[in-house]
Amino acid sequence: MKEIKICIAGLGNVGSSVIQSLVDSKNFINLKSNFNINILGISAKNKNKKRIIDISKYEWFDSPLDFLNTDCDIVIELIGEEKGLSYDLVKNSLKNGKHVITANKAMLAKNGSELFKLADQNNKYLLYEAAVAGGIPIIKTLKNNITLNKVKKISGILNGTTNYILTMMEHDNLSFDKAISIAQSKGYTSPSESELDIGGLDSAHKLTILSSLCFGAEIEFKNNYITGISEIKYEDIKNAKNLGYKIKLISESLIVNNKIFSITSPKLISMNNPLASVDGVLNAINIETDQLESLFLEGEGAGGKATASSVISDINEIFTNINVNSLGFKINNLTKYTKFELSNLESPYYLRIMTQDITGVLSKITSYFKDSNISVEKILQLPETKDKPIPIIITTHKVKTETLLKSLEQIEKQSFVLDKIIVIPLDNGQE
Ligand SMILES: NC(=O)c1ccc[n+]([C@@H]2O[C@H](COP(=O)([O-])OP(=O)(O)OC[C@H]3O[C@@H](n4cnc5c(N)ncnc54)[C@H](OP(=O)(O)O)[C@@H]3O)[C@@H](O)[C@H]2O)c1
Repeated sequence: MKEIKICIAGLGNVGSSVIQSLVDSKNFINLKSNFNINILGISAKNKNKKRIIDISKYEWFDSPLDFLNTDCDIVIELIGEEKGLSYDLVKNSLKNGKHVITANKAMLAKNGSELFKLADQNNKYLLYEAAVAGGIPIIKTLKNNITLNKVKKISGILNGTTNYILTMMEHDNLSFDKAISIAQSKGYTSPSESELDIGGLDSAHKLTILSSLCFGAEIEFKNNYITGISEIKYEDIKNAKNLGYKIKLISESLIVNNKIFSITSPKLISMNNPLASVDGVLNAINIETDQLESLFLEGEGAGGKATASSVISDINEIFTNINVNSLGFKINNLTKYTKFELSNLESPYYLRIMTQDITGVLSKITSYFKDSNISVEKILQLPETKDKPIPIIITTHKVKTETLLKSLEQIEKQSFVLDKIIVIPLDNGQE
């Protein structure tokens, strides 16, 4: 039996669950592998905090940086800061010849380029299965299993909180504000985390990592287009349903004309797309490759236990030595892609235009579209509501985004338009 010595920084939801799982599964791990995992040290902010695990049998370190003075093999970073201590710990651990496992997508999306190079230079693993989609083994699937497939496109629901909010709005006819407060009361997000979740940043962090793995792209967070879900109203969800769609926060990445297009944005998804049936806090990812039309993975995207499962799978990976390239590609072969301009994207769109209740509004709007050769697919007739702005719901056929936005700019200037026009891309499965 080989002994693997690990140190764990951060004993919150994930860190405590990792220890719990290692204790609970000790015999099972011994049955399945030829190593024994020994927790050499632990660290968190407050030593006296009540935890789900008994920490008294492990050596406590006031600073996780002191792990570097031990002979541990792996440092596991589960604190979660984008820079600061988490970054210092990961960087110095690699420099000091330790393998690193982290669940910290924000840190990797912002500093991954430097950290993965450092891991490579020091011939150490920097593994991060838990950083994307919690318990779903998406990283190993891309890195180790379909490694010789050329990925054409990856798309998914990467944030459970926003998916829960959109599901609650749809199923329970709730407003956005009501749904978010329920998500907070259930502990799925806190007011301080909500901006990251609702604003789409958390999903974009994960997509940055995935697009690097899929396309051998240098990690560049600035290549993302990000729109969150805060402008989605219950009415949009209802309208989408009437049109045969569901609204989901979708993250997708592909290479177009040798440029990278990575976008996180609400999208109308047709009901026959498997992502449309992913509800609640679940995450899911669809991968299209040159060899697989569709590979669909769905599961728990967060939660201590599910995320701990991914952390532990990384320990196993290090000692079974599956793929030494932490990003799947050799570090020197990564490509620095330029960003595909969103204005050049051709897509069908859903539009909500809030207008005054006066005659001739619809024909004026459609005449602007006609001038720009924008082809309308459907116009949704909504029942009149007395003394309230009238929503005009339009879906378009495929149109160049720049053309649509220019036309909408003109329409928005009209006095009968009462609010910012809501523009959401639409996936009708025909792209
Ligand atoms: N929760 C999930 O479902 C999930 C899913 C996927 C990925 N992740 C990622 O996993 C990481 C951890 O998340 P979490 O939910 O476990 O967070 P958490 O519950 O907030 O735990 C954070 C831990 O870091 C410790 N910490 C904070 N500042 C520290 C410092 N200066 N020195 C040492 N320890 C410090 C805290 O100590 P105290 O306990 O003493 O306060 C706490 O134990 C994050 O990167 C997160 O994005 C989480």
